[in-house]
Amino acid sequence: MSISIEEALAAGASLQTVSDSWRLDVELLLAEVLGKSREHLYAWPSESLGTDQERNFRDLLDRRLAGEPVAYLLGRKAFWDFELQVDSRVLIPRPETECLVEQALQVGKAFSDASPRVADLGTGSGAIAIALARSNPLWLVTAVDISADALELARLNAAQLGAENIEFREGSWCDGLEADEYAMIVANPPYVAEGDRHLQQGDLPFEPAIALVASDSGLGDLSLIIQQSKLVLKKDAWLLLEHGFDQQDRLRTLLANEGFKNIVGHKDYANTDRLVVAQWPG
Ligand SMILES: C[S@@+](CC[C@H](N)C(=O)[O-])C[C@H]1O[C@@H](n2cnc3c(N)ncnc32)[C@H](O)[C@@H]1O
Repeated sequence: MSISIEEALAAGASLQTVSDSWRLDVELLLAEVLGKSREHLYAWPSESLGTDQERNFRDLLDRRLAGEPVAYLLGRKAFWDFELQVDSRVLIPRPETECLVEQALQVGKAFSDASPRVADLGTGSGAIAIALARSNPLWLVTAVDISADALELARLNAAQLGAENIEFREGSWCDGLEADEYAMIVANPPYVAEGDRHLQQGDLPFEPAIALVASDSGLGDLSLIIQQSKLVLKKDAWLLLEHGFDQQDRLRTLLANEGFKNIVGHKDYANTDRLVVAQWPG
């Protein structure tokens, strides 16, 4: 006999062992299988699931129990004012990265050029590049990633979201970018140290290692970007970097040693040090 929505929700309590947000997870998965809103689940608790729906729901529940992230199970993730398609080729965009977008838009308000060149290094799903490009249709955004798989998805997201002012490039950080051209570079690069215990927790075991792990206690890619960006940033242009919770002081020092000025650190919504903004004097 088929189970009701109420019974399916109750079955989802098994997720308590793997997820702090288990109730939300089960509602999202059930709503997805039914093709309905979460509100529908509470308006129609005695509605029965069809046989296929119940099988699909139990399958998603099992995968979630095995740790697979909800965003990969649903195939999408909300970011900024849109929804991105995501899968295991890309990092799941995090809310804290919206702070980087906020700061980039703030910095961009002072641009004198109507169509400045802006680069998003390590674009992944395209989250940052798409947010910047849609907010500023005249900006010329270059989105770089070393992963061809990630770029494929980023291109698809940009097309679906109507972000036409993005050029995608496969490559490593600033390699191949034009010298002395960019008004702003933003990056959320890998910054987790090899062997960090967080790599075994939450969604991280399912995300691409290339999106997470960096050498030199997590600072390897950040350091490379700081060094390389000097060649492609214009005079008085800006570099904005997301970083790990305990990396801000070391990043400030690195930036100062490389000759950057006006170095300001920012926190994320959880009040954790999360990004630095710095200006390249040229
Ligand atoms: C932390 S993820 C950020 C993804 C996306 N920007 C976001 O904020 O959700 C880092 C990204 O950097 C890319 N990456 C890693 N090494 C790279 C390199 N040497 N050059 C360019 N991109 C790289 C990864 O493929 C991944 O997409």
